[in-house]
Amino acid sequence: MILGLETSCDDTCAAVIDGPRILSNVVSSQAAFHERYGGVVPEVASRHHLELVNAVVASALDEAEVELAEVDRVAVTQGPGLIGALLVGLSTAKALAAAQRKPLIPVDHLHGHVAANYLEAEPLEPPFLCLIASGGHTLLAGVRDPSGFEVIGRTLDDAAGEAFDKGARLLGLGYPGGPAIQRAAEGGDPQAFDFPVAMSGRGLDFSFSGLKTALVYGVRELGPEEVERRRTDLAASFQTAITDQLIAKLRRAARGGEWPAIALGGGVAANAELRGRAQELCDELGLRLKLVPIALCTDNAAMIASAARYSDPIAYPDYLSFDAFGTERRRPLRAA
Ligand code: KG4
Ligand code: ZN
Repeated sequence: MILGLETSCDDTCAAVIDGPRILSNVVSSQAAFHERYGGVVPEVASRHHLELVNAVVASALDEAEVELAEVDRVAVTQGPGLIGALLVGLSTAKALAAAQRKPLIPVDHLHGHVAANYLEAEPLEPPFLCLIASGGHTLLAGVRDPSGFEVIGRTLDDAAGEAFDKGARLLGLGYPGGPAIQRAAEGGDPQAFDFPVAMSGRGLDFSFSGLKTALVYGVRELGPEEVERRRTDLAASFQTAITDQLIAKLRRAARGGEWPAIALGGGVAANAELRGRAQELCDELGLRLKLVPIALCTDNAAMIASAARYSDPIAYPDYLSFDAFGTERRRPLRAA
């Protein structure tokens, strides 16, 4: 039985899993606090984590109907993410584990997104190709082993979720941008505006900054009234441009025939157009598509506990000096 904690961004999360079974998965979203700023304010996030974390851990244990003493290990996101936010989860996890002399497992947040696929129902076994697209990250992971993954493509600038968030702000649609753009795009014409889709070379890396710039200029050229009148078409075209690139790179990565399955993770994997087009791609290529429930796509602690099942536990007191790391590790976690 593993108690997991996740506080890398603006969600305060705790969960208890028993093997691949989720006993509880509590998420306290701070989105409402950050909405007025149009994005996550790191200092505000840290403060809210501090206020919420004990109550969130208590309700995760409560819902799972287990005592802390019954938990075998404590798992926590070590990075990447907002450093102040990460430190709240890491310190809390250390304290909980140390008080009971239990082992601690530091988890890479991105391994967590991959490991969401190992939870019930219908856990997916490697090998598979996993697209992780969130507000902070966009990468293609080649997964051959549940203990890690190989990065085979990554964004060179903005993350896909960041593009949704910035696009929504430009269109006056609020935060978080992904769901707002998806809603606004309903009934819009995805071909109405021709946004650039970065497809440079044969590589698997992504780029979204040109798309954002194109929207900045588009909005400026159209003017406020025209933007208002054509917002649905703008949202639909912008959403399609992001999905076009994600699907194109997935197709390119899958074409070699090396991967029997494709999985989607991260907040952007909640996007209905992306899900639909990934299904079409898998049907066409004869691959299995694994879509975890949306609650496991967005940040949560069950995925962190799931990754911890395949990582080495650190015995008390060796973990007490562990630090959080803010930026994505440049190397693959494990050579494939
Ligand atoms: O994984 P996540 O909850 O947190 C991070 O690790 O960043 O992802 C949040 C991101 C935000 O950028 C949000 O706009 C995006 O996921 N998102 C979506 C949708 N729901 C959330 N993007 C597109 N369509 C959605 N339905
Ligand atoms: Zn995430």
